[in-house]
Amino acid sequence: MKRYLIDFNSNLCKHKYFDVIIIGAGIAGLYTALMLPQKLKIAVLSKKEIDDSDSYMAQGGIAASIDGDDRELHVKDTVNAGCYVNDKEAVEVLVNESEQAIENLIKLGVNFDRDSNGNFYRSFEGNHSIARILHVNGDSTGKGVMEVLIKQAERAGNIDIISGIFAVDIVENEGKYCGITALHRGEPVYLGSRCCVMASGGIGQLFSKTTNVDVLTGDGIAMAIRAGIGLKDMEYVQFHPTAFYSKNKDTEGRLFLISEAVRGEGAVLKNINGKRFMKEYDSRMELAPRDIVARAIFDQMKKTSSKYVYLDATMYDEKFLRNRFKQIYRECEDNSIEMYKDYIPVTPAEHYFMGGIKVDLFSRTCMDGLYAVGECACTGVHGANRLASNSLLEALVFGNRAAQDISEKISAVKKYGLPEVKTGINLKDGGQKLDFGELEKSLKDLMEKHAGIIRNIEDLKGILKVIEDALLKMEALDLKTVEFIEAYNMYQVAGNIVISILNSKSSIGSNYVEDYSKAAR
Ligand code: SIN
Repeated sequence: MKRYLIDFNSNLCKHKYFDVIIIGAGIAGLYTALMLPQKLKIAVLSKKEIDDSDSYMAQGGIAASIDGDDRELHVKDTVNAGCYVNDKEAVEVLVNESEQAIENLIKLGVNFDRDSNGNFYRSFEGNHSIARILHVNGDSTGKGVMEVLIKQAERAGNIDIISGIFAVDIVENEGKYCGITALHRGEPVYLGSRCCVMASGGIGQLFSKTTNVDVLTGDGIAMAIRAGIGLKDMEYVQFHPTAFYSKNKDTEGRLFLISEAVRGEGAVLKNINGKRFMKEYDSRMELAPRDIVARAIFDQMKKTSSKYVYLDATMYDEKFLRNRFKQIYRECEDNSIEMYKDYIPVTPAEHYFMGGIKVDLFSRTCMDGLYAVGECACTGVHGANRLASNSLLEALVFGNRAAQDISEKISAVKKYGLPEVKTGINLKDGGQKLDFGELEKSLKDLMEKHAGIIRNIEDLKGILKVIEDALLKMEALDLKTVEFIEAYNMYQVAGNIVISILNSKSSIGSNYVEDYSKAAR
């Protein structure tokens, strides 16, 4: 494995220096930046444009225990969904600091939906014992929060938002973090800082069906792999049960999400013969944890030889649905489906990664000066299956904790210079060609089929060999393009996921391995 993918020899690239670099401009990255002291010079890096993030698309909302009224129950629901392999201490931090996170967002200018008495409108989603999910403008929570955070970051004066920059590697000197290499509009750059926060998001694009935006190729996690940073729970990949299945379009690429909140309001699942089926799988029916619902749908699709099942929300009238689910209603309408009278075709799709860069309760990785927050990080709060709407909350709570830790320590952090030049992949294009589109597509198909909802050992061993061969082939090349590094990152992260599944030796939650679950029966 190559340690560095591009050379950071000081003669070869431009340099810039900050106090803190944040890789990723979703809710985790921007909120962390805003929680840091204003005297710090901060760079927030965005791979494409600032609104190209899953955070922006988030529909469901933010789970929170307001007025301390249900903290115990929120902890219980989280660990129950996570199959009891969650980090209990991290879950308690998450829940206990949820009210503060909501208050901070309100102070920044976020307007949560409220009822006519001015109380928060709180919704249900799968495996929540009570309605505790706050949302903004119905099903547009992500957009509502992100617009406020972007505006505040742009106003702040100490935050430099750099878009079109692709972070490549974490650079270390004497075993300590000192900076990163990146391609900025195709040109290699070195950015140094005292601290760095990875907030690079998820891995959805490793699978052929995903609700994730196209920039989410696991880049931050691949950077951590090359830097030898510890990872955790890499076998736990969450498939959302209900992504929109378009009968006219290819299902490849990003699928539109039909929020769990639709089931939370009472919509039910039916197979293509119109039969409601969830009671055959779990007494909680449509509101069972996501891994259970996704597997049930997968099973029904197989039994009925269909690529989708239906979500039936026809028990509600048009006015309620249009108002509560504005975005979803519009998307269905654009696909000739009227939610109040037509069933919605849905299929499971990769949605969230519970694993990632291992961090402690203050979002610190094992490398001094390096932090990770949001989906690329693994605090352990989600266990084997994330409870719906706990992810934005995790980004806020642990983003704030990273900011507090950095604020306390940064003045004592030594500013490291560039280490000795390391050899990476040459900066010249050796003229070799590889069809990256084809390379990525074949990985997505393999991962979807063998490392998705149902897994088995024999197939996983087979795909590991394919992944390892592809990595060796790529390493022999002489390329430095974004396309190349992205594909290389995807294969590195996929290889790590497959190895983690093979090493897990058990079938828990979203890591459903047929061989282990048969053996346990
Ligand atoms: C949804 O709205 O169903 C997604 C929310 C989440 O993933 O937590």
